[in-house]
Amino acid sequence: MGGRGWPRGVPLGLVVLALLLNAAALCRGGVTSRFVRLQEKAVDMPLNADVFRIPPGYNAPQQVHITQGDYEGRAIIVSWITPAQPGSSAVLYGTSPKKLSSQAVGIVLRYMFHNYTSGFIHHCLLKDLEYDTQYFYMVGIGQSPRTFWFRTPPKSFDSNKTLAHYEANPKKGQTVLFVGDLSYADTYPNQDNVRWDTWGRFVERSTAYQPWIWTAGNHEIHFAPELGETVPFKPYTSRYFVPYQASGSIAPFWYSIRRASAHIIVLASYSAYGKYTPQYKWLEEELPRVNRSETPWLIVLMHSPWYNSYNYHYMEGETMRVMFEPWFVKYKVDLVFAGHVHAYERSHRVSNIAYNIVNGKCTPVRDQSAPVYITIGDGGNLEGLATNMTEPQPGYSAFREASFGHAVLDIKNRTHAHYGWHRNQDGAAVEADSLWIYNRVWNPKPETD
Ligand SMILES: *[C@@H]1O[C@H](CO)[C@@H](O)[C@H](O)[C@H]1NC(C)=O
Ligand SMILES: *[C@@H]1O[C@H](CO)[C@@H](O)[C@H](O)[C@H]1NC(C)=O
Ligand SMILES: *[C@@H]1O[C@H](CO)[C@@H](O)[C@H](O)[C@H]1NC(C)=O
Ligand SMILES: *[C@@H]1O[C@H](CO)[C@@H](O)[C@H](O)[C@H]1NC(C)=O
Ligand SMILES: *[C@@H]1O[C@H](CO)[C@@H](O)[C@H](O)[C@H]1NC(C)=O
Repeated sequence: MGGRGWPRGVPLGLVVLALLLNAAALCRGGVTSRFVRLQEKAVDMPLNADVFRIPPGYNAPQQVHITQGDYEGRAIIVSWITPAQPGSSAVLYGTSPKKLSSQAVGIVLRYMFHNYTSGFIHHCLLKDLEYDTQYFYMVGIGQSPRTFWFRTPPKSFDSNKTLAHYEANPKKGQTVLFVGDLSYADTYPNQDNVRWDTWGRFVERSTAYQPWIWTAGNHEIHFAPELGETVPFKPYTSRYFVPYQASGSIAPFWYSIRRASAHIIVLASYSAYGKYTPQYKWLEEELPRVNRSETPWLIVLMHSPWYNSYNYHYMEGETMRVMFEPWFVKYKVDLVFAGHVHAYERSHRVSNIAYNIVNGKCTPVRDQSAPVYITIGDGGNLEGLATNMTEPQPGYSAFREASFGHAVLDIKNRTHAHYGWHRNQDGAAVEADSLWIYNRVWNPKPETD
């Protein structure tokens, strides 16, 4: 399944951008945190939990979520599900909640998975939006309408208005970079897709208001021949549309967007990436396209980490690292975020690209052209935390701790971004790991770790 030809927008300039992630920590070099968490079992929320509540009203839209709808940040894809009948696929929107003067009409689809039949899934593209503007939007028109809002990203760092806004409201994430594994429906009997619906209702309080940039994880695959389900990623691709065609990709699993001052590349750990494959060829063409004058920050998202020192999923990212790491160094990627491992870890700037089978140079080395790798698979899940670490802590690992949490990346300008990881047990403002990240093109000095 997939989107239609979402249009390309116009280029945007430098901006201040705060990105909220789903897990993360600060420097000092080779720290294994001694923080001891209270023992809390990973207990599944029951189907009647308050966060799964169905919104009131006949056929009321639920599981509302938005993501960026184009390459540049001037479009939004609004998605929602109606349970009883299709209803309207239209979205009314505008810059005042009292005057929703624009309308866009989307599409509706359903899918079946074993004996589960989804609700009516709507996807609607709102395009030609103004930069740095609050929009209100209504779904469920004609039956049980619900209204939400979002903000488009700023166009230019030169905008005094944008700067003032950021000064007044620091550290409020504006976009969520989600590194994969959404509902975990595949872990329930018959891979019960009802869990996609409960998860969709659970996260609606955030996903309806700010774009979540999606990355496919292994729990999205849902390959279940024993249930007659042989098309991988069916629930994920039916429910979560992404603007992959806008960046010249042929599949929703790898794509890029530009959002304010960041160029964000999403890679697919579970699609082919060997030489000559579509993903390989796309990335080979994509990296030279990144214009660091227009988007100073180059960030990559993937599910399976390359630099991980936990005894979970150890070296699973190795084959992709072998294929793509020389490009990350050549094009000076600033940061790589991955999930998969249910814990937090931050690397030094390292690379491991010198090896040629016969020279024996197979150990990661410090490299100021290389990204910082952050494993932030600690958003929370029913499988619990990964606590078993490799010992001793390898040289590439700067900080690691097995706690649930999230991180905020606060891009200040083209040279500086502040990064902080927050563990769930602490107060909201506490950063358990934090550091200033220096841009690899505009300020390529070593960070102070
Ligand atoms: C779906 O099928 C499974 C067995 O494969 C059965 O246990 C379950 O009750 C069925 N659910 C529905 C909603 O029919
Ligand atoms: C820039 O924004 C600040 C803070 O809002 C304001 O005091 C100042 O007058 C603005 N300057 C210009 C040129 O817009
Ligand atoms: C990069 O963007 C700048 C600013 O828009 C532009 O002047 C420059 O030509 C672009 N570089 C390339 C190689 O396209
Ligand atoms: C940690 O992982 C190692 C390697 O897989 C294993 O040998 C060891 O038993 C594990 N320790 C615990 C406490 O599970
Ligand atoms: C960029 O942001 C950093 C951190 O806020 C600040 O110290 C630096 O002066 C800024 N650079 C410019 C050119 O504004």
